Amino acid sequence: MQKEFWFDRPGQTELRDRLRANRRHWLVTGAAGFIGSNLVESLLQLGQTVTGLDNFATGHAYNLKHVESCVGDDFANFTLIEGDIRDFDTCAAAVKDVDVVLHQAALGSVPRSIEDPRTSHDVNVTGFLNMLDASRLGGVQSFVYAASSSTYGDEPQLPKIEDRIGNPLSPYAATKLFDEIYADIYRRTYDFSSVGLRYFNVFGPRQDPQGAYAAVIPKWTDLMIDGQSITINGDGETSRDFCFVDNAVQANLRAGLAQLRGENEVVNVAVGQRTTLNELFTRIREELANYQIGYDKDPIHADFRKGDVRHSLASIDKGRDLLGYDPTHTIVTGLEAAMPWYVEERRRVIADFNS
Ligand SMILES: NC(=O)c1ccc[n+]([C@@H]2O[C@H](COP(=O)([O-])OP(=O)(O)OC[C@H]3O[C@@H](n4cnc5c(N)ncnc54)[C@H](O)[C@@H]3O)[C@@H](O)[C@H]2O)c1
Repeated sequence: MQKEFWFDRPGQTELRDRLRANRRHWLVTGAAGFIGSNLVESLLQLGQTVTGLDNFATGHAYNLKHVESCVGDDFANFTLIEGDIRDFDTCAAAVKDVDVVLHQAALGSVPRSIEDPRTSHDVNVTGFLNMLDASRLGGVQSFVYAASSSTYGDEPQLPKIEDRIGNPLSPYAATKLFDEIYADIYRRTYDFSSVGLRYFNVFGPRQDPQGAYAAVIPKWTDLMIDGQSITINGDGETSRDFCFVDNAVQANLRAGLAQLRGENEVVNVAVGQRTTLNELFTRIREELANYQIGYDKDPIHADFRKGDVRHSLASIDKGRDLLGYDPTHTIVTGLEAAMPWYVEERRRVIADFNS
């Protein structure tokens, strides 16, 4: 079956055509990771030149191999720099002749940051500042970065609106808030503008299901495929605005072209729909049933996790108004689109890569 690209959908073709009409040079940091590799894939499919920067801390070379198999000959327009954003010279070299930076490299996960706050700070704050400063000094036209819904912290209002944040609840959230503060300072001090995309629980192909810090959707899906037990932290009524990765890619490309001179904007990237963990479990089970994978275990309930916010739901009005952002996938259609990766492709891609 022919894959349907998000940029061929109604409402997205103008963006697609604008990109195809003009070849730009994009730098994607964290290119071997989940969101980064999806950005690289779409950019190459849209005829762009892409440099990737990654140190493979949490990303995988097989993700880029998979991108290559998806984009074919267009992979010739991709160059990978293996390096660390904690090193300023590496960042400065990476932005050479680059028009747009999509800065994704960071150490994600609230629990990881609680275990090791200093490394999260070094990568997420010092590394961010290195990329921001290298971009300013290197004359980059547009700087877009991965911010996070965790910045809303203990702000109770739903839906979350960009200019109303609470106190961060974890070291990870603090690092992402620092990034927004630095981005704002750079506009005020150097007239260097940027767009921060506050992602809300992004999921999709190439998100890593393994390891202690895996996100809930890939982790549960993988465990359920193997018939293993899954654990829900708390009563399962914790809710999230789960966002399929194609929506996040769209937001990045729109922000990269937006040219918001003199402004510094932070924008929610989500769908504007809330799903509880109990509902999520049922949906994944239903999706797997479509692949003749039955799962009859009940989830195990454990304690609530430290640093987690109870409910998360975004207003996406600002993204719509400012960037023309219009999500192409809901959680249901996103899970449908993600499932082949978990059920079929992932194991094959890793086996091929290792052979
Ligand atoms: N996935 C989500 O739901 C979500 C939600 C909010 C924010 N974010 C943010 O989005 C961005 C991408 O997240 P992801 O889910 O794709 O995670 P990921 O772990 O798959 O990707 C991060 C990439 O950054 C690379 N990296 C880490 N440290 C680096 C360093 N010092 N130098 C160079 N590269 C480095 C990793 O190797 C990896 O390839 C991150 O900034 C993350 O904080 C993600």
